[in-house]
Amino acid sequence: MAALRRRVLAAAAAGGGLLLGWALATGDERLYVAAVMPVLRAVPPEAAHGLALRAAACGLLPSGRPDSPILEVHVFGQRFCNPVGLAAGFDKHGEAVDGLYKMGFGFVEVGTVTPQPQEGNPKPRVFRLAEDEAVINRYGFNSHGHAAVERRLRARQQTQLRLTEAGMPLGINLGKNKSSADAAADYVAGVRTLGPLADYLVVNVSSPNTPGLRDLQGRAELHSLLTKVLAERDVLPCERKPAVLVKIAPDLSAQDKQDIASVVCEVGVDGLIISNTTVSRPGGLRGRQRAEPGGLSGTPLRELSTQTVRDMYALTRGRVPIVGVGGVSSGRDALEKIRAGASLVQMYTALVYRGPPAVAAVKRELEELLREQGFKSVAEAVGADHR
Ligand SMILES: Cc1cc2nc3c(=O)[nH]c(=O)nc-3n(C[C@H](O)[C@H](O)[C@H](O)COP(=O)(O)O)c2cc1C
Repeated sequence: MAALRRRVLAAAAAGGGLLLGWALATGDERLYVAAVMPVLRAVPPEAAHGLALRAAACGLLPSGRPDSPILEVHVFGQRFCNPVGLAAGFDKHGEAVDGLYKMGFGFVEVGTVTPQPQEGNPKPRVFRLAEDEAVINRYGFNSHGHAAVERRLRARQQTQLRLTEAGMPLGINLGKNKSSADAAADYVAGVRTLGPLADYLVVNVSSPNTPGLRDLQGRAELHSLLTKVLAERDVLPCERKPAVLVKIAPDLSAQDKQDIASVVCEVGVDGLIISNTTVSRPGGLRGRQRAEPGGLSGTPLRELSTQTVRDMYALTRGRVPIVGVGGVSSGRDALEKIRAGASLVQMYTALVYRGPPAVAAVKRELEELLREQGFKSVAEAVGADHR
């Protein structure tokens, strides 16, 4: 009897393994949701993040198909073969960039990277709110530091040049060390060290887990910081200088938003990334760990982030390109952000619940919806709600 049980269990395990292998190889959306993601979710969130990153680094994730020309976007002087990118925070140290492009992203953003290596906050510091398709994180900029990330990205610089040429640019997201007394010097150091390796740089002044960071979004602080960052970018000794984008929070007052809009227009920033995670806790959250301190991402962030895109597009009169991020898990979500004013979108939390096939799904649905609504390109749909 015991032997029979062992054989049945072994057969079931082999079947499960086969199913898992099949899902991994084919990228079948339903198999992923039914077989792979539940297995990964049995692992604690930070360990699962590490596993997913290693799988991507080994190229174990499903490959995407070529993109339809309707999805091509030209913005910040770059060509993007599709408007769906990977948001910052997944590959903080630039360890799996090539595998991530294979998943079908039109662009990948590495970081946040701080000048010196730092540990970040004590664990546990990431929490799944599965009932809400949300995550709360308080990583606190765990980073390998500029030098390690520079070395890693330099080793694949030629590959990146080919990817960028093929419409898959690379972003690098910059932060400051927790103990640093001079925030601007940290960002300027990031421009100098990592700027030559990036198609665009992100001045991240919106993560909620570094004390004082979000105060850099204030009018005077932001003006002074961005002036220094742009001056450093302008003297970089490289042929193609990176675009400079600013990533903002979704938790801003009307006055904050007006101030940011006037500063970015005044100093000539190339774009905005909207938004980071929220410190708010929208009503109706069901996840047991909803009261954990940190930034909330995923479905409950979606509306707040889209509204911030809408507000900033109006305040900048559509003159500053926007990357919309927060709760994108379908083509409908992506198009909502595009119609509100985003030229590109990014995803993170949807990957935790739906896995890599979510990228192809968002692109497929977006393409269908664009055609259905009579748009011939993404550009035609950008800001459509404001007209
Ligand atoms: C676990 C985790 C870590 C993150 N780390 C960073 C980070 O280092 N820098 C950053 O700018 N944003 C970071 N983010 C924010 C995301 O880039 C994105 O702005 C936010 O999660 C909203 O998108 P989503 O709802 O698709 O996840 C992180 C998000 C998560 C979930």
